[in-house]
Amino acid sequence: MIILPSLYNADFLRLSDCLTQLENAGIEYLHFDVMDGNFVPNLGLNLELLKQLNQQTHFKMDCHLMVKRPETLLNRFITGGANMITIHAESTPQTYRVIQEINEHHILSGIAINPGTPVSAIKELLPLVDVVLVMTVNPGVNGQKFIPSAVNKVYELFAYKQKHSDCHYHIEVDGGINDQTAPLCAKAGANMFVSGSFLFSGDRIDNQLEMLVEAINKKS
Ligand code: DX5
Ligand code: ZN
Repeated sequence: MIILPSLYNADFLRLSDCLTQLENAGIEYLHFDVMDGNFVPNLGLNLELLKQLNQQTHFKMDCHLMVKRPETLLNRFITGGANMITIHAESTPQTYRVIQEINEHHILSGIAINPGTPVSAIKELLPLVDVVLVMTVNPGVNGQKFIPSAVNKVYELFAYKQKHSDCHYHIEVDGGINDQTAPLCAKAGANMFVSGSFLFSGDRIDNQLEMLVEAINKKS
């Protein structure tokens, strides 16, 4: 199980304190939301921050590109220090080529699907990717309510992987993940959990993290 704190939700006036807490809690990956104000309405984190994190911390960076035509940004994020790049199935007609390009750089590749996009839309990509990101809210805004029907896609992806030996992807969920919703996703087969407002909402990140991990382990 991998917990990926969504940095977009951090208190940026206390960022170094947040990062220290995450490091002390044993976090390996940070989820880094990139938004273009076009594919999604908001603007997200920028490349300069990624470069600084890459140079000054030990975290691996999971870059979630919520942008139209992500192929135009790929090289900059790769040289900026991304360890994993996830693009959206809805963001370009060239998903296959973009995933191939990410794989050629020997970093992890991911394909994300919005709540309205079925698993069938990405079937051709499944043998190629390291991660499938099932959006459990509409992308682009933090603090939204979890969409329960998205869990069916996690079940479907898990079953598909069991049947197809050429597939090795992890199943990541993102949006409204907390101690109530994460266990539902874990039960369905998700093993990567992005959490934003839940993790960063309490006084202490490590307490929130512990609650989340405990809830996932119980899969209540
Ligand atoms: C939403 C982003 C998420 C977001 C998660 O579109 O992709 O990573 O920051 O925040 P919460 O956990 O609050 O939904
Ligand atoms: Zn995200």
